[in-house]
Amino acid sequence: MDVFELDRSSSTPLYQQLREQIKQRIFSGSLPAGTRLPPERTLANTLGVNRTTVVNAYRDLAAEGLVEGRVGHGTVVMPPPTPPPDGPVRPMHWASMSESEDPVVSDINAVVRRSGSISFAHGEMSPDLFPATALGQLFSRAFSTGKAPLGYGPVAGYLPLREAIAGRVGVTPGEVLVLSGSQLALYLISRVLLQPGETVVVEVPSYINTLGIFESAGVRVVPVPVDRDGMQVDGLAEIFLRYRPKLLFTVPNFHNPLGVTMSLARRRQLLTLAARHQVGIVEDDPYGELQFAGDPVPSLKSLDPGGYVIYVSSFSKSVTPGLRLAWLAAPPAVVERIAAARGTLDFRAALLNQWVMDAFLREGLMDGHLQQLRPVLHRRRDALVAALRQHMPAGVTWHVPNGGYHLWCTLPRPLRARRLLSEAAREGVAFIPGDYYGPGDEARRGIRLNFTYPREPEIAEGVKRLAAAVRRILKEEGTAVDSRPELSGPVV
Ligand SMILES: Cc1ncc(COP(=O)(O)O)c(C=O)c1O
Repeated sequence: MDVFELDRSSSTPLYQQLREQIKQRIFSGSLPAGTRLPPERTLANTLGVNRTTVVNAYRDLAAEGLVEGRVGHGTVVMPPPTPPPDGPVRPMHWASMSESEDPVVSDINAVVRRSGSISFAHGEMSPDLFPATALGQLFSRAFSTGKAPLGYGPVAGYLPLREAIAGRVGVTPGEVLVLSGSQLALYLISRVLLQPGETVVVEVPSYINTLGIFESAGVRVVPVPVDRDGMQVDGLAEIFLRYRPKLLFTVPNFHNPLGVTMSLARRRQLLTLAARHQVGIVEDDPYGELQFAGDPVPSLKSLDPGGYVIYVSSFSKSVTPGLRLAWLAAPPAVVERIAAARGTLDFRAALLNQWVMDAFLREGLMDGHLQQLRPVLHRRRDALVAALRQHMPAGVTWHVPNGGYHLWCTLPRPLRARRLLSEAAREGVAFIPGDYYGPGDEARRGIRLNFTYPREPEIAEGVKRLAAAVRRILKEEGTAVDSRPELSGPVV
């Protein structure tokens, strides 16, 4: 066997050099299967290196299955793995390359697909609530008048749409960036403004995909609890001092999943703290336009003279998710940085959809649509609350939201939402269990009920079935519920 040549001046450790040279010889066939490699001590002496250099090289080769240490035989080169037999082309097994769907999501999807099922699990409105006729007419007009813009369009969005949004939000068009979904906005914010290892403060429970975004960005998430008045801001000063976060993330209006709204006093307190500690605030507000009861509370963005807030909103919940249009409003420097990053990701939002949305806003169709939509959502929420009151056993509590899509319901101890989910599946009813949105006993007892997808009769029937499932579990488990009122305020 030719001697190996090790370069002592290289920054690559000697054992790695030796390992790679042996590997090359195995792959080139000059060390065929069955060849005995020199004993460790002999090779070490020949090369003038420490014995551990050879031991480490052999150990790595064995870990790769290229050699095997055999008692009495030393280290022997292994035959290459047997190739699969020739035969018909087998389909590529992509599923083994990616994570499979979350089992809870696939269970829920299986229920939702069954005919006669009732879904409180959706994150959208029933299709009859989309302004399909008005949007259809605008698309037709775009083509019949030859105005349909079919090119790429600017990276920050179609300027007239940016102007129309700016007018509604109370900022300048240069502060608006149109994106294909607020999901994309949150993703870009996490990649552009945060480095891996930095810290973000997040309400928990929280919109599940936000938590996923921060996790995949490698940032540290410091959770803050939420109660009936929104994010609990009292402990924030200490959190800011201890963890020095760059950003704080909140859904102040009709929180997903809790349905609660942050009070004005807390909004002011949050802004004061953010300015004192130099923490940026991401105000995620896809449901703000969908208030049907109570008094509106000014947005954090409108209360923020210092430019701390990045406001994110979407047409997904108020108009339709099918157009994939959302926007963020932030100081121009932030808009420019995020626009540059989006250029390499989805390039642009669909220009034709932006043209249609601009006309929808400018021609008053959006306002007309919202005026019709809000009372429908109000009636559906009332139908849900009435059904819960009528059917649920004592001890089940809920928070009544003033807008948005979701109502959060809490089961009494010792019930668990996951157990109810499988029992409800037998009744053909789906919802999202609370522990999907965060940890803790109260989340495990929480269920998120969407009231914008099922219609009123389905809501009544769905709650009846759900309540029957709750009673069945109580009977089967023979447990008495703890029907003490929930503790002072927190809904989770
Ligand atoms: C709080 C919150 N943020 C963002 C989104 C994502 O919306 P979009 O369709 O604009 O990506 C959702 C959707 O459920 C949401 O509930």
